[in-house]
Amino acid sequence: MKLSLKNIVYQPPGQFEETRYEKIHNVIFDNSVDGSKVVAAEIANLIKDKQAKNEICVLGLATGSSPIKVYEELVRLHKEEGLSFKNVVTFNLDEYYPMPKESIHSYHYFMHQHLFDHIDILPENINIPDGMVPKEQLIEYCISYDEKIKSYGGLDFQLLGIGRTGHIGFNEPGSHINSGTRFITLDPLTRYDAAPDFFGINNVPRWAITMGVKTVMSAKRIVLLAWGNKKADIIKKTIEGKMTSDVPATYLQQHNNTTFVLDQEASSELTRIKTPWLVKDCKWDDTLIKKSVVWLSGVTDKSILKLTEKDYNAHGMSGLLAQEGDHYDINIKVFNQLQHTITGWPGGKPNADDTNRPEREYPHKKRVLIFSPHPDDDVISMGGTLDRLVQQGHEVHVAYQTSGSIAVSDEQALKYAEILLHYQPDNNKIKSLIKDLQTKNKPYEDTVEVRKLKAEIRKHEAIGALRYLGVPEKNMHFLNMPFYETGTIKKKPLSIRDINIVKDIIVTIQPHQIFAAGDLADPHGTHKVCLDAIFAAIDSLKTQDFMNDCRVWLYRGAWHEWDVPQIDMAVPMSPDQVLRKRKAIFYHETQKDGVMFQGNDPREFWVRTEDRNRQTAEKYNRLGLADYAAIEAFKRYLF
Ligand code: F6R
Repeated sequence: MKLSLKNIVYQPPGQFEETRYEKIHNVIFDNSVDGSKVVAAEIANLIKDKQAKNEICVLGLATGSSPIKVYEELVRLHKEEGLSFKNVVTFNLDEYYPMPKESIHSYHYFMHQHLFDHIDILPENINIPDGMVPKEQLIEYCISYDEKIKSYGGLDFQLLGIGRTGHIGFNEPGSHINSGTRFITLDPLTRYDAAPDFFGINNVPRWAITMGVKTVMSAKRIVLLAWGNKKADIIKKTIEGKMTSDVPATYLQQHNNTTFVLDQEASSELTRIKTPWLVKDCKWDDTLIKKSVVWLSGVTDKSILKLTEKDYNAHGMSGLLAQEGDHYDINIKVFNQLQHTITGWPGGKPNADDTNRPEREYPHKKRVLIFSPHPDDDVISMGGTLDRLVQQGHEVHVAYQTSGSIAVSDEQALKYAEILLHYQPDNNKIKSLIKDLQTKNKPYEDTVEVRKLKAEIRKHEAIGALRYLGVPEKNMHFLNMPFYETGTIKKKPLSIRDINIVKDIIVTIQPHQIFAAGDLADPHGTHKVCLDAIFAAIDSLKTQDFMNDCRVWLYRGAWHEWDVPQIDMAVPMSPDQVLRKRKAIFYHETQKDGVMFQGNDPREFWVRTEDRNRQTAEKYNRLGLADYAAIEAFKRYLF
């Protein structure tokens, strides 16, 4: 396929190779910030080129989480570098239906909030499908949307995100390559993904108006953005799979000027990233050797110590044999590396040689600081390890970074308010709390008092769980980081106040171990912000003496687990410990029974985490290591 790279401003070295697996040109960046800046620069250059020629620049724009940082950068270019949008005409991809413009859920609102209100675009040059067009006029309206695009000479540039269904715009599976702008029914998975923004699936519209595939494909240049782990599978299917209406984004394989801009996580399932030895000659370092041998064991369905020279040669790994020599030496080396990750002593084992253990022996009694983004991530993600740390005599502290109030349903809050009222029937504050809860008509409009009650409920659930695991109350810390306290889903940006709160607790405790949620699955989610705050705090404290004696371990949230080759410490659990962990999770009662922010897995947290811990144990066992009931996994963060 011929690739046009002329518009790319920045080309990271070695990122432009095509492979026999890939059918769409893609560029991988370290993170979404870097990628977004490059895309914004490309758009800015296009606008300026057109300005120089006295021409109009026609942009197709997307909404959702993916383009937000591109818009931020365009706003910055306008404000700080004088980029003008006077010659720009925009057409948005889609709008929910029915949807009034003023609704905070409308794409009309989104575009003004993130871009249009901050630049000098002429209001008459903005086109966004109208979510309130009467049904009987929809067909005509959609045809005229396409015609208007054509009247400007077509789209010069189309920005896209991608849904997990493989939709572009809202062209859901089944969309035809020749489809024009039209009224469509949203896929259940798309509605599921939108549910948190709408406070529950029942509030998500069933329909939308979307630009058609043909309309999108007619753009002269297309850039699709995808960030984060949860896009990795659909990105692989779209770039490497067969073109099919089941994954409408695969139609882009036929467009000759399309680039996918990805971050590391979104690209992680691509063959050239996941199994580069199948694609090209590799530079074999220890990380790649471990990754490839674990993979080889999986594809051959053999434990590591049973892998033969033939297996290596038959699976693209002859280069490794040439470099390392005997295959059995490689088997043993990787087997030992994995063996050394396993420890029942997550705080270090006293009186034992620690040369090959994940944690050091001294000091025997460590101060441990566990950061938990919400009040429950600690027990969900590392409840077994927490239990062991307490039982092995360490001074365990848990710091809950946010109140988690937003995830308590009104019904739950009402239940507690009614109990309070039972004991104080004349208390006006409680009465008005109950009235607030009963009369509010928008789920995201909690009063400050309601928010406080919800936060208090979660706090006491956390206290119950930790008390059960033997953590003294003085070691429970509720940080209530300010970025979270907006009362709505949209959070404030991380501020120095947030970072200072995290720094203060680290300085006060001077921990020998820090555990943090390294869950990057959702690049805009609370976990990522909480982690950013911890990284920033560690960075500014790393020169202090006590930090020389501190190790940082990352666990993952409820949605993903580290892959085996990434794991630096694997803490096995006995069946009894699995039950203790389950019981600790049960204390978080408000998070049971189909909570608001469940993601696309309808199982309760304790079921999910047990399944995940069992799977990790099975993976270790299949590699030829000991057979445990469950394993919690950690990756070391070096600072
Ligand atoms: C939005 C749109 C959709 C989104 C897609 C990804 O205008 O057309 O196709 O781009 O659903 O959404 P995010 O970026 O929120 O993951």
